[in-house]
Amino acid sequence: MWHPPGARRQPLPLAEWPTQLRAESSHLFSPLHRGRLALRDRTWVPAMVPWRATDDGQVTPNVLDWYERFAEGRPGGLVVEATGVRDVPSGPLLRIGDDRFVPGLNQLAERVRRASSGVTRLFIQLIDFLTIRRRPEPRTYFERHLSITPRHRAALGLEQAPEASLRSALAALPRERLQAVLTPRELETLDQGLRERVTDVHLPHIADLPRELPGIFARAAARAEAAGFDGVELHAAHAYTLASFLSAHNTRRDGYGGSLEQRLRLPLEVLAAVRSAVSASFVVGVRFLADECIAGGNDVAAAETIGVAFARGGVDFVSLSRGGKFEDAKQPKIGWAAYPYTGPSGWECMPTTLADEQGPFGRNVAACARVRRAIHDAGLDTPVVVAGGIATFEQAEAILANEQADVIGAARQSLADPDWFEKLRRGQGEQIRRCTFTNYCEGLDQKHKSVTCKLWDRESLDAPDVTFDATGRRRLLAPRWRGERD
Ligand SMILES: Cc1cc2nc3c(=O)[nH]c(=O)nc-3n(C[C@H](O)[C@H](O)[C@H](O)COP(=O)(O)O)c2cc1C
Ligand code: SF4
Repeated sequence: MWHPPGARRQPLPLAEWPTQLRAESSHLFSPLHRGRLALRDRTWVPAMVPWRATDDGQVTPNVLDWYERFAEGRPGGLVVEATGVRDVPSGPLLRIGDDRFVPGLNQLAERVRRASSGVTRLFIQLIDFLTIRRRPEPRTYFERHLSITPRHRAALGLEQAPEASLRSALAALPRERLQAVLTPRELETLDQGLRERVTDVHLPHIADLPRELPGIFARAAARAEAAGFDGVELHAAHAYTLASFLSAHNTRRDGYGGSLEQRLRLPLEVLAAVRSAVSASFVVGVRFLADECIAGGNDVAAAETIGVAFARGGVDFVSLSRGGKFEDAKQPKIGWAAYPYTGPSGWECMPTTLADEQGPFGRNVAACARVRRAIHDAGLDTPVVVAGGIATFEQAEAILANEQADVIGAARQSLADPDWFEKLRRGQGEQIRRCTFTNYCEGLDQKHKSVTCKLWDRESLDAPDVTFDATGRRRLLAPRWRGERD
């Protein structure tokens, strides 16, 4: 796992937990009513993929248990994992690209409603992504995947040779020669595996994205409403299609790339299509990056413009993440696909305690405050959700008191202890199982294994209702909290 140069293990921040009285009068536990978004309080569990769906994208009993467990902690908002908007195979990732997914998702919404006594507002994150393939064996790449061009023939002086001989000749070239003979993109495919980009407009399905995506997202949002969700979150963060349109790396020349205004065009058209496909009270939010954290990528100033544009476009909340890009991802092993959380920008997305001076805690707050300020300066008050290393009451309270964000997202801390907001609310903070921010969970996510927290395996393993993963060693759900509830 990448970490900043000279990183040192940073301690968890000291936590002074509030009494129930203090929690009751806090910003964190005050309600939010802004436009369509009404939350009982400012607590929020951002999207986390647990890899528990069936291979064809359906909700399973394990998916239901997973979200029920978060709902028991009664966060103000809970966002269901990135869910594919298309009807294409995507491994054990939830999907919403066809009406057949609605009944399972409806069960999920019902379970959350029941488990949170109707308190938690439930959103589903809608994602589109482009093709990415595993890093090939070099031999296979030259034998099968590389498209032979006149350039290869000319470089080797084998203009008339049969294709098979040319492929063998290429496979036998030393690295320095290959660097001259292959294009940078071909070299990347050899070294990293094939990865489509939004700029590959020579491919008809990529050229057509602006025509296809608004309708695809709109139909997915309508299904989310039919399934009983309170709203959707458009995934325009990290390494996925909408984020790639927003990115400064998007140089499309068809009116959907180049200037920031044109890069915003498709995400705003998706937003408008989604809005018109759902009812007036249905919440439509967007997640994007406060900073792409890559060379030549969008910085915070760009994120300010993006935030204002989404707010003007009528989005009901913006949720800000950072980093998580392919551009600086680590080279995968042969047979593995590149993963956008393995490089510096990936670390910024889910920072660990092996950190630089700044540490991993609240690393996204300053950027988020700037985006929020820009939205307010534009005369709008769209609520802003912040996430990234937030795991104590004081931290959350200071962010809200200083008006740096309106809602506090805590992903890994909520994974470590789904009851943590509830424990805070009840003045029982000392019972919180504190996330260590060392990313065992993220390692599982990377391998597409059922995500669990290492801390769960240290408690009450003999309790009657414990369920384990296929290996029988990892607990699938956080230990139950036997605390008093009202
Ligand atoms: C296991 C795991 C899965 C995640 N899946 C998603 C996802 O589906 N969509 C998303 O926008 N972010 C995803 N994230 C990122 C989190 O939502 C969050 O932005 C990040 O973990 C930083 O917040 P934290 O410090 O509170 O954990 C995931 C994080 C983890 C640990
Ligand atoms: S596995 Fe580690 S980083 Fe992940 S939630 Fe648990 S303690 Fe936190």
